[in-house]
Amino acid sequence: MASRSKKTIKTYDTAGLKVPVSLGVIMDGNGRWAKKRLLPRSAGHRAGAENLKELCRNCGNYGVKYLTVYAFSTENWSRPENEVSQLMKLFVEFFEKYDPELEQEGIRVRFTGDIASLPEDLQRVCREGEERSKHRPKMQLIVAFNYGGRRELVYAARRLAEQVRKGEIDPSDITEESISSNLYLPDVPDPELIIRPSGEMRLSNFLLWESAYSELWVSDTLWPDFGYEELTQAFRDYAGRDRRFGGLSAKDSDEGDKK
Ligand code: IPE
Ligand code: IPE
Ligand code: MG
Repeated sequence: MASRSKKTIKTYDTAGLKVPVSLGVIMDGNGRWAKKRLLPRSAGHRAGAENLKELCRNCGNYGVKYLTVYAFSTENWSRPENEVSQLMKLFVEFFEKYDPELEQEGIRVRFTGDIASLPEDLQRVCREGEERSKHRPKMQLIVAFNYGGRRELVYAARRLAEQVRKGEIDPSDITEESISSNLYLPDVPDPELIIRPSGEMRLSNFLLWESAYSELWVSDTLWPDFGYEELTQAFRDYAGRDRRFGGLSAKDSDEGDKK
């Protein structure tokens, strides 16, 4: 049988690369991947889940510390019921099937999103997955599930409003920092880089607050085919980005001209 891709020697040599501490990945393109192969969309989702395991290994070995992956958005409920229920099943299967490998790799699992609105059995998968992996040291895999950036901001706003109502804080105490610290996972650093496979040039409600200064990297490859080489390419491109955060680079400032 022909192999899906040629064998690659993975070196994880970071010379010339810049590896983000916190990375976001929008795992998009499963449906198109399946359609190209005349397969049902569920086969694309399955291939996508397999590929997530690969991404975890590659990111862990490159030294990423927080990998946030977009797995199911608050808008994805509008898909046909059959597809939604297959995605829910796959979600449970993923952690049953791959947790031993994640454990071997030292990968801790956490969830971000409106987890409290999920059916009880899914909430249990999240709780148990977080609990059994909490001491794993190498990297955190943060699965954005039933996640929406706008819903996360509503969550933070309600928590802050509640603190005001109880008299714990004054409205003037609400700052950028206090909003950040009332998001779902305040200890996770904002992603320096967000990768979106499958060619779409949008965030689709992913990490709206946290992505204010994230670098974006889009590739036409569909998620199930997005592998080590492209991840390496993304890190290489990211190394060349000039992150100014609204300021100037040393070479652009008038002060630099005087020297
Ligand atoms: C991403 O792949 C998976 C989810 C959104 C759950 P898609 O299912 O969106 O794949 P395309 O975009 O239709 O190819
Ligand atoms: C974004 O993909 C959500 C996930 C990958 C989970 P979508 O396929 O839902 O995004 P749109 O509809 O193309 O914006
Ligand atoms: Mg899509």
